[in-house]
Parts: sequence; structure tokens; C-alpha cells
Amino acid sequence: MLAIRWVTERDEKGYFWPSEEAKKHAWVSDPNIYEEAAKDPVAFWEKRAEEGIEWFQKWEKAYEWNPPHYKWFVGAKLNVCYNCVDRHIKAGKGDKPAIIWIPEPVDEPKRVITYVELHKLVQKFANVLKSLGVKKGDRVSIYLPMIPEVQIAMLACARIGAVHSVVFSAFSADSLRTRIEDSEAKVLITADGYYRRGKVINLKQNADKAVEGTSIEKVIVVKRAGNEVNMLNGRDLWWHELMEEASDNCEVEQMDSEDMLFLLYTSGTTGKPKGVVHTCGGYIVMAYWTSRWVFDLHDDDIFWCTADVGWITGHTYNCYGPLANGATLLFFEGAPDYPEKDRWWQIIEENKVTILYTAPTAIRMFAQWGEEWPAKHDLSSLRLLGTVGEPIDEDAWLWYFKNIGGSRCPIVDTWWQTETGGTLITSLPGIGPFIPTVAGLPFPGVTADILDSEGNSVSGSEGGYLVIKSPVPPSLLRGLYKDEEKFVNTYWSEYGKEIYFASDGARWVEDKYIRITGRVDDVMNVAGHRLSSAEVENAIASDERVSECAVVPKPHPIKGEVPIAFVVLKGVEPSDQLKEELIGAVKNQIGPTAKPADIIFVKELPKTRSGKIMRRMLKALLTNKPLGDTTTLQNPESVEHLKEVTGYKG
Ligand code: WTA
Repeated sequence: MLAIRWVTERDEKGYFWPSEEAKKHAWVSDPNIYEEAAKDPVAFWEKRAEEGIEWFQKWEKAYEWNPPHYKWFVGAKLNVCYNCVDRHIKAGKGDKPAIIWIPEPVDEPKRVITYVELHKLVQKFANVLKSLGVKKGDRVSIYLPMIPEVQIAMLACARIGAVHSVVFSAFSADSLRTRIEDSEAKVLITADGYYRRGKVINLKQNADKAVEGTSIEKVIVVKRAGNEVNMLNGRDLWWHELMEEASDNCEVEQMDSEDMLFLLYTSGTTGKPKGVVHTCGGYIVMAYWTSRWVFDLHDDDIFWCTADVGWITGHTYNCYGPLANGATLLFFEGAPDYPEKDRWWQIIEENKVTILYTAPTAIRMFAQWGEEWPAKHDLSSLRLLGTVGEPIDEDAWLWYFKNIGGSRCPIVDTWWQTETGGTLITSLPGIGPFIPTVAGLPFPGVTADILDSEGNSVSGSEGGYLVIKSPVPPSLLRGLYKDEEKFVNTYWSEYGKEIYFASDGARWVEDKYIRITGRVDDVMNVAGHRLSSAEVENAIASDERVSECAVVPKPHPIKGEVPIAFVVLKGVEPSDQLKEELIGAVKNQIGPTAKPADIIFVKELPKTRSGKIMRRMLKALLTNKPLGDTTTLQNPESVEHLKEVTGYKG
């Protein structure tokens, strides 16, 4: 069979457009949708909410705006789990696979969970949580690897109105503990271990370190890898034993649209991660529609989002969005190069994946491994590709387009954040255009702009700061957990209370499409993982031999950015051993993804007159960019030494 071409040839401007087949296939192909939505965004979202979601009770008011606070679908009642599971069974789709899980070991069979099975498992687990005293509004911590129990646990929380806080399984015990403490979770769900490149990682050990002395009363442990773990009597319980006894009938809780659905911690500019609050109604409306329109998700699709569920991409597109659509999602436990560098392509071929959603860092890694790996496999089932997490360069885009998409499939470059809950800027598959390095248009109903530092809209290709205006998208964060001040300062202060400041730089292309240029705050993006400079600095500075330190990102060909630490010591001599120890401290306190690529010992850090570290100058030193005016520094004499140790060429 000749595979269908979903895009046209590249035009003279370098754009790709949907083919006639793509337009026919797509849920939306009429560009007027943008104007229609812009005329009355609130009415547009009301229509989306009515069509996409089943409500137990309709809202009294669609949108309430008391800057910087807002509510959507006020007074409405719904249950997110019901929308992701129960209603598909009622619609006769019970036997359809909801989740296809691919374990890492090649000899272990895949696990297919239909909607009916998911329904049972979720109800059982919801009853387990109830039996342990978890009630509506209680927080539940989830520290699980990429196994289906993670979606089951999330949905079970949603079913009974408990608030989940999923913590990335590669985060350290310390990181988990901070998040447990902040959220005051009662129950932790974890696993004995999981497979990574053939080895078993003991997750329970980390969990044990994290929970001691916290609010956690019970730890539920999924037996995944069968490794030996320590089960504390009275506190630790096996998932499978609890499930065996639990009834598979559990009513859904009627939730208010504005009740909290989950908390997800993310890095900000301070050392302490922020608990981003998402609520039920607005979030699920957005998850549903962005999954449907951005990926042109249909009933016969097999949708594979490669993001770990510990990140927002995993929440919205590895759980809530596709399941709310009654789609089939594929979920892979392991590493892309195990047992060989073609594991992903093999999975796509074997499972006839139609949509692949991944990150630029992965694409750059595959490009480096070579096109012979995907070339070994028939990838003609693919219809659409997506990317997220960081700006994608043209080379990576074109490599992905040609070698994975066979030059047939569009690439949707989706810009969004933990805070936005769902995609806000991207091209739609039936409308286009698909332009390498350009995210595209704001999703219908989303009002985005690019402002200069004075708050004026910029035009032409002049760069500026990306902002979102009212009516804000239904899924925009409702707050930071227990930190109103930080919420206001981070998002609603730069341009006042009525404008959401995204902390990303952007510029217009043809005064219409948006190109994202990257973070403008001290947040790094390491292999698609959001990481704050301050968090890494705190970990290093916790060593008593360190007097001061500053961490800045340095461009990296695969990871996008890597952290580099400048460290001032307290009278001890620098050594390679000390370097290793400091890197080890970061690994222990945050996790391996945060490890600095290098530590540069310096005598002094460059500082402004008011004593602030000039991170901008450190970045310039690492990238051989102009240093700017150094005379305004408190310690201009430090510059020569810094140039020397960084090998600065100017
Ligand atoms: C960056 C991930 C360019 C951006 C969903 C944002 C992107 C941060 C893109 C949020 C994209 C995300 N192009 N940059 N398509 N998507 N980013 O919270 O800097 O983990 O602010 O959410 O990733 O990262 P987060």
C-alpha cells in the first residue's frame, strides 16, 4: 500500500502545508476557526466544554475574571475519571484498548488494557485509597515509573476527588521529600523497582528515604521488578494484595469545576519547586480539545507520547487528553537504546503507531545515532509527528520530518508549559503551515501576544516576551500551592495583574506565527527537563567547602542545554575529586538529570553593584559572546580571571 502524503512539498518560503487528504481527514481544516473563536473566546470555550465533556450539572457562569484570578465553568459539576473511562463504555467502546503498555525487557509480553478493564482497575484502586482513609481534597503522592499503574492511580484519585502529585521517578529521595512535605500527602504510591537499560533500579529505597518523618501514613508498593525491598510493617502495603480484596465498584465523586484535580511541582527561579495547581473543568476541556485537534486524534489512532508521566506532558498527553477522547495510547517503560538503538522504531512498526509526540532532545540524539536505525523499520503507519519542550532547530526538524515521517507527515511544534496545562501555540494538522523552528498560531480561543519591556506589542521580527491575555485559557494554572505571593510575582507582575507573563522569549514570523526563542529567566532546559539554576546552586552550596556558586546553562548539541557551575571555595584547594563530590551532591539532592556537565572553580563571581550575580556574563563567557559593559560590576577585576578559566575567545 502506498502511504498517504499528509503534507505538500516545501514551498518557496520554506513552509509545508496540509495535503488535500490531510484536510479531509482533519477535525478542523477551515482557517476561519481562528477568527470565529477570537470574536467571542468565552462562547468558543463554552461550546468546546459542551461538546467534549459530560457534565453532571451545567455552569452558571462560563468565565469569571478578577485579575489575577479566574474561574471557568463556575458552578458546574463533573468527574474527570468518568470522562476518561466510564462514558466510553456507555458509548460501546469498552473493548477498545485504552492503554498498550510496552515493558522494557524484550521477552516480556506487552499488556493491553481495554476501557472495561481500566474501569475495573481504577474502581478497585479508588476503593483501596478510600479504605486507607483518603478523602476528597486529600493529597496523594505518586512516585512511579512508566507502568500502567500510574494512570490507574491518577484516575483513581480523580474518581474520588483526591489530589495527586506525581513525582518524576528519576528524581532523588530529597526531591520527593520536598514535594511530599509541601503537599502534605497522606499516601505515597511507588514501586519496588523498574527496568532501565536492562538493569533494575530500586525505587523503593528512594521512597523509604523520602517518607521518614513526613505526613505519609501509608506507602503502596507496586511489584514491578521483583527486586528485594524492605516493607515496613504497618506502613508499607503491596498494591496487588490490596487490589485483590478491593471491590470493583466505586461511584464517582461529583466535583466542582474549580475543585483541584492535581498538583505538579515544577522548577521556578528559586531553589524551591512550585506546586502548580490544576482544576477539574478547565483542565479537562483543554486536554480533550488539544489532544483532538492538535494531533487530529481519531478513533483508529495509536497515539504515542514519549514523555514521562512525571512531567506535565505525561499528564495531559499520556493520560487525561487521549483517554478523555476514548483513544488508544501507547506507553513505553524503557530506554530508547535498549536493547538496540532502534527500539522506538521497532515499537512503532509492531504496534502500527500513527502519532508520535516527542522532544527535540530525543530527535537530536537519534540524528546523532544515524538514520540507519529508523531505516530498518517500516514506519509507514505514522501520520503525524509532534514535538514539545524546547525550541527545535531546523536540522533536527528536517531530520525528524525525513527520517521518521518519511517526508509525508506534518510536524506539530507545540508550545506550552506546566502552568498552561495544555498546548497553547501550534499549527493545526488540517490548516498548517508547518514551519521548521516556528511553533505557529495560538490555538483557537487563546489570546497570545509578544511585548517589549515597556509592555508595548512588538511587530515585525523584533523579539520580545510572550504573554497570554484574558480570557485566559481554561487550563491555565489556578495558583501555586499555598503560595499566593509567588503566584502573583511570577506570572502577574511583569506587566501587571491582567497579563500572564510566560517567561519565554518569542518573535513574530510574518506578524502571525510565533517563534519561541527560549526562557528569559533562570530556568534551564536540560534534555527537555525544566530545571532551575537556583536548585542546582543550592545543592552545590550545601557542601560546607563551597563559599558561593552560580549555575548557568551552556548550549549542548543533544541535550539543548547543560548546567555549568562556577564555584568559589572556602580556602580549600580545588581538585578533581572535589568536582566529583559536588556533582554527586547534585545527583543525590535532585537527580541525575540535574548533574552539572562541568564545575569551574573560580576566585570570585562577577557581581552587580547591588551584589547580584551576573549570570548573563557567565553565559556569555561560556558561549564566547560579547560580555557587555563590565565597568558597572562591583568587581571588574574578576573578569580577566574568568576569561582565563573559561577559555573565553571573545
Ligand atoms: C519550553 C513542557 C520552544 C519553554 C510542556 C517553556 C518550548 C518550557 C516548547 C515549559 C516549544 C515548551 N518550543 N520551547 N514547542 N514547549 N517549551 O513546564 O521554555 O516542562 O516555558 O512544560 O519549555 O516547560 P514545562
